[in-house]
Amino acid sequence: MKKAIIIGATSGLGREVATRLVEKGWKVGITGRRTEALETFRNEYGADKVCISTVDVTRDDSVAALDALLEQTGEPDLFFYASGVGYQNHELDLDKELRTVQTNCVGMVRMVDHFINYVRSHNYYFPKHKAHVAVISSVAGVVVLGTAPAYSATKRMQSHYLSTLTQLSRMEHIPVCFTDIRPGFIATDILDSDKHYPMLMTKEKAADHIMKALSRKKRVYTFDWRYRVGCFFWSFIPRCIWERITWIKN
Ligand SMILES: NC(=O)c1ccc[n+]([C@@H]2O[C@H](COP(=O)([O-])OP(=O)(O)OC[C@H]3O[C@@H](n4cnc5c(N)ncnc54)[C@H](OP(=O)(O)O)[C@@H]3O)[C@@H](O)[C@H]2O)c1
Repeated sequence: MKKAIIIGATSGLGREVATRLVEKGWKVGITGRRTEALETFRNEYGADKVCISTVDVTRDDSVAALDALLEQTGEPDLFFYASGVGYQNHELDLDKELRTVQTNCVGMVRMVDHFINYVRSHNYYFPKHKAHVAVISSVAGVVVLGTAPAYSATKRMQSHYLSTLTQLSRMEHIPVCFTDIRPGFIATDILDSDKHYPMLMTKEKAADHIMKALSRKKRVYTFDWRYRVGCFFWSFIPRCIWERITWIKN
């Protein structure tokens, strides 16, 4: 039975992916701050297939909670970081900016680094098994989004961090491979329901893309094709031009 740990599976993309994995016969260890949502998921699929642990990635004790979940679930084949917050923040509300940094950057580093050290210390992963670490960053990390400063910058950091970890694990012969998942706009709770978002995708369709990226162990996966084309051309736009673009709404 394959196993996965999903950080941030109480709603949205993390929950969708957890559902797909369980329905494919995987055992999943799921987390989030909302204990009730975790319990509902476990009740739906059974405690033999779903382990839960309430985790707030912004807190120091999240590492101990992750250890408890690893113990319950067993050595995972996949470690999937889907926790994230993001805000449009024209006012530079400091609380929102810092919460975004804490969840998307500090939380990710805390969880992912702890898992990589777990892999290093578990013979299970040598020599034939490679653990798979996947993180949902965003297309927002490829472009500059002045409307969501911390969000855009933390998404860039996540992608860059996965590159550094990829190089480090080759240097140190750590049996881990990485996937950086970069979606465009998906209709989940993270978006404001009263705003219009271009090329908005349903979370079910987004989960199809994520499952494809995971099964193929893609290093970077941007979806859908329109965003892939967009990112290719956007990468040629010089910074001095991007910083002058003032008509972006989201
Ligand atoms: N939706 C989009 O348009 C879009 C586009 C690109 C990238 N993404 C990225 O996709 C990821 C998932 O977001 P989503 O769209 O599925 O939104 P979502 O439905 O709001 O899900 C966010 C998840 O993160 C968890 N979370 C938030 N703060 C946490 C904390 N401090 N500790 C632990 N877990 C925490 C939430 O669980 P609790 O509230 O229970 O803690 C929830 O499970 C995020 O990284 C987001 O940036 C989304």
